[in-house]
Amino acid sequence: MDVYEKFLKDLQRRLDVDLTGYKRPQMERRINTLMRSLGVKDYDEFIDLMVRDKQRFDQFLDHLTINVSEFFRNPAQWQVLEKQILPALLAQNPNLKIWSAGCSTGEEPYSLAMLLSEVAPRGQHSILATDFDVRVLKKAQEGAYPAKTTAGIPGHYLQKYFIQQGDTYRVKDELKRLITFRNHNLMRDKFPEQLDLILCRNVVIYFTEETKYELYKKFFYALRRQGILFTGSTEQIIQAREIGYESVAIFFYRRP
Ligand SMILES: C[S@@+](CC[C@H](N)C(=O)[O-])C[C@H]1O[C@@H](n2cnc3c(N)ncnc32)[C@H](O)[C@@H]1O
Repeated sequence: MDVYEKFLKDLQRRLDVDLTGYKRPQMERRINTLMRSLGVKDYDEFIDLMVRDKQRFDQFLDHLTINVSEFFRNPAQWQVLEKQILPALLAQNPNLKIWSAGCSTGEEPYSLAMLLSEVAPRGQHSILATDFDVRVLKKAQEGAYPAKTTAGIPGHYLQKYFIQQGDTYRVKDELKRLITFRNHNLMRDKFPEQLDLILCRNVVIYFTEETKYELYKKFFYALRRQGILFTGSTEQIIQAREIGYESVAIFFYRRP
């Protein structure tokens, strides 16, 4: 076991953070940069510091997981979702059960909630939005966004689903009601079942190939038959066929 592997073990034992499914070079680089910037000399000292100082621990988590998100991120794919995928799903089931996995600060599930409210306002839809980072989840639940981050939201949606307070846009309760936010670790926790649609976008970038494969397999079984997985704009699933998915459109995979 080398020093990095020992660090991962200690991290899990003392701080309950499991980085084993993540690509080593990227993680190691990020951790080392942070340690240098904090003037910490080795992994042992770093762990001791994080155990003692909650703020440093938060900073470490922040540094590792990139939480950047956007409303209607990659609009062309949201168009496909709106025009092709949702109508097909709604024709099979008027009340959709959806999971936004790795939802970060909430832009993704709120985008989805707006779209559903427009496309199928009468349905009894439910959106489960999860992340393993409790701080981003808190922001997501608050649903308050600075004006400059709302550029991707069509003007009439912004008017209809947000309340403006100075430079802040707050999501209205009617939209929030569609979403349940929950702390969930994709590497560890049980998956929901019988889903019509799963969004897992821009989450797997640091996962190893094996971890991605296992994750996409678990998503497959979390979908109902004919359910769809929607991935990020650079995230084509290499072993999609092997797992059993059929491709419906680029970045959309169906469980047949
Ligand atoms: C870049 S954000 C993507 C947000 C949104 N899906 C989007 O595409 O805009 C990635 C999110 O995945 C979360 N994440 C990373 N690993 C995770 C894991 N093992 N379980 C749950 N969430 C995870 C991070 O905390 C982060 O909030």
